[in-house]
Amino acid sequence: MDNPDQLRDDILKDVDAAESVDALEEIRVAVLGKKGRITDMMKGLGQMAPDERKAAGQALNALKDEIADALESKKTTLADADLDRRLMTEKIDVTLPPAPEPQGSIHPISQTIDEITAIFGEMGFTVAEGPDIEDDWHNFTALNIPADHPARQEHDTFYLPGEHGERKVLRTHTSPVQIRTMTAEKPPIRIIIPGRTYRSDYDATHSPMFHQVEGLVIDKTSHMGHLKGCLIEFCSAFFEVDDLPVRFRPSYFPFTEPSAEVDIGCTRDGGEFRIGHGDDWLEILGSGMVNPNVLANCGIDPTEYQGFAFGIGIERLAMLKYGIPDLRTFYDSDLRWLRHYGFRSLEVPGMVGGLVR
Ligand code: DAH
Repeated sequence: MDNPDQLRDDILKDVDAAESVDALEEIRVAVLGKKGRITDMMKGLGQMAPDERKAAGQALNALKDEIADALESKKTTLADADLDRRLMTEKIDVTLPPAPEPQGSIHPISQTIDEITAIFGEMGFTVAEGPDIEDDWHNFTALNIPADHPARQEHDTFYLPGEHGERKVLRTHTSPVQIRTMTAEKPPIRIIIPGRTYRSDYDATHSPMFHQVEGLVIDKTSHMGHLKGCLIEFCSAFFEVDDLPVRFRPSYFPFTEPSAEVDIGCTRDGGEFRIGHGDDWLEILGSGMVNPNVLANCGIDPTEYQGFAFGIGIERLAMLKYGIPDLRTFYDSDLRWLRHYGFRSLEVPGMVGGLVR
């Protein structure tokens, strides 16, 4: 058997010299582990005479405890030193601003489109797009808009010559993308079409370039009840008003039959509108059941398929929701205006209303 005093001194020296918790663990295993030196010596006790064994056993147990204590205390010392070192090196600079100042902001039109898309996205709509420069067929004819309709007049919109001498038009609404989608795809169709539109208008509520979002649902069973449910749900989610009063007023559009304009309840406070319950109504969109002529123009059998469509002015919605009084300011690129009405990049719209941060 090793000389216990010598052994004790050696081990304690090793413990003292250890520079890491791992090194301590190695020592522990080598001394107190299953095949450790002291464990071996304990096993050797069995071969001793009983009177010797008692004294040796006590001495070994005391040694074992002493080493275990030394290991534990060295471990604490190392952990403390480690913490001290980290405290010294990992400094928190309390003078740093909490987050970098945002560079730029999201334009209210983009924000509004994102919000509208999020709401219809939850209802299973996907986004479709089409060109800003259209032809007469997609913008008017296929949509059942007759040749003598006032919308076709020169002073109402912008025409430009096409490559082959034909007449092109800056689309006056997003409805031509209904035609493009129904010509290219088979029903069922459930899309929204946000995008730029153009008309020859300019005042506080009109701009020559503005935005619309179109909606189109075509399948075998969608009816006026679905149109109403879908639009009521949308209005209430967008304006974040539960039980928002919504009114469907009979109207006329060449591409829908029957057609309805949709009003929401509001209170008029001077020039400002407060959306929700009140004794006034505000028109916000046009809608209707897709006219069978339009389906036929796109090669869809109107005896088999039906559906509904709607068109919403995006500026109008943004002005109402965010209290923006003049539509022309959307396109002035005035940085003060953008800073005031713009949105932070992390203000992501969600279906449940409001902004999810
Ligand atoms: N295209 C119409 C406009 O610009 C809006 C519209 C009304 C679109 C009814 C539709 C609809 O799809 O069904 O005035």
